Amino acid sequence: MSDSLPLLLRAARGESVERPPVWMMRQAGRYMKVYRDLRDRHPSFRERSENPDLSYDISMQPFEAFQPDGVILFSDILTPLPGMGIDFDIVESKGPLIQDPIKSLAQVEALRPLQPEESMPFVGEVLSRLRESVGNKAAVLGFVGAPWTLGAYVVEGKSSKNYAVIKAMAFQQPELLHRLLDHFAESIATYLRYQIDSGAQVVQMFDSWAGQLSPLDYDTFAAPYQKKVVDLVKATHPDTPMILYISGSAGVLERMSQTGVDIISLDWTVDMAEGCARLPKHMGVQGNVDPGLLFGTPEAIRDRIDDTVRKARGRRHILNLGHGILPGTPEENGRAFFEAGKTVMDRIGTAG
Ligand code: CP3
Repeated sequence: MSDSLPLLLRAARGESVERPPVWMMRQAGRYMKVYRDLRDRHPSFRERSENPDLSYDISMQPFEAFQPDGVILFSDILTPLPGMGIDFDIVESKGPLIQDPIKSLAQVEALRPLQPEESMPFVGEVLSRLRESVGNKAAVLGFVGAPWTLGAYVVEGKSSKNYAVIKAMAFQQPELLHRLLDHFAESIATYLRYQIDSGAQVVQMFDSWAGQLSPLDYDTFAAPYQKKVVDLVKATHPDTPMILYISGSAGVLERMSQTGVDIISLDWTVDMAEGCARLPKHMGVQGNVDPGLLFGTPEAIRDRIDDTVRKARGRRHILNLGHGILPGTPEENGRAFFEAGKTVMDRIGTAG
């Protein structure tokens, strides 16, 4: 019976629902005390995300605290890299570090196609345990990084301000970069299929740094690889809703809708009503609430949620932030976001 399926899954599929489902990017993480305490006991990010017991427990922390409508796997977009032959670490206050950044054709040719069941069985285990635990009370979300954003990390070697290293590659040796992006597209599609087969019911692709590209270069280096991932996954798993997120996407919204995904996750630099007007009617929207709002009052949070939900009316809509919840956010404001999200219809009514 489709009514018994999780609200987020029904909404993502375009069924009419009683209220927009709500979850938060980075809903498990440093703003939560239980997470910080666990991190003190297990200081290695790789351990927290690759030990299935820890990854499971962390994924469940926000569900236990706030009952969001979606439970996202605790992992990272970089987690598949070692399975392709690229080592990485995530260092406190520095972010991701790649020991041996990709510079040459020989390195790209040496990359292995990802075989997730061999190199990352912990992901499959966690996803199936999450499904068993949350049942129909929430949807289990899987995710990947898109080729351009993964490329940015492995070519730059770390988080970047201006993307000068990967842009040097793009504009000096475009064939080399295309080889790398194509490798990632194939492997990321395989990885998404594995996540769906293991229990992910909705999946999100993060091309977080594709907003750093001019629209022309987005069409060259980001969109075709997003589309390749979507086409490969939709060929075998047509019923799994796919969400695409880009930070700084206001200049490429229409282009994002051409990739074949079902839902566009907006950041907060575009008004929800104007964002909707720029997207085809059949496409869903997610996000849009400034994560900085969670440093405000509960009233401010509630008012902005009401505004966002009103503006997204008539579309499939998943309530979320416009990017991950920020470290240092008061935990009670995280709770206020979920509570205000779940009660939005009591305030704005269902009509009109
Ligand atoms: O959303 C969730 O709760 C699931 C977990 C998740 C993490 N990373 C855990 C994490 C998800 C979905 C990601 C995706 C991710 N990772 C993205 C795309 C989303 C986005 O933010 O745009 C990107 C670009 C990365 C790469 C990455 N990983 C960065 C830039 C950092 C450091 C960020 C910082 O603020 O220091 C990480 C580390 C990371 N991944 C943390 C978490 C909770 C923080 C480190 C920690 O908890 O020790």
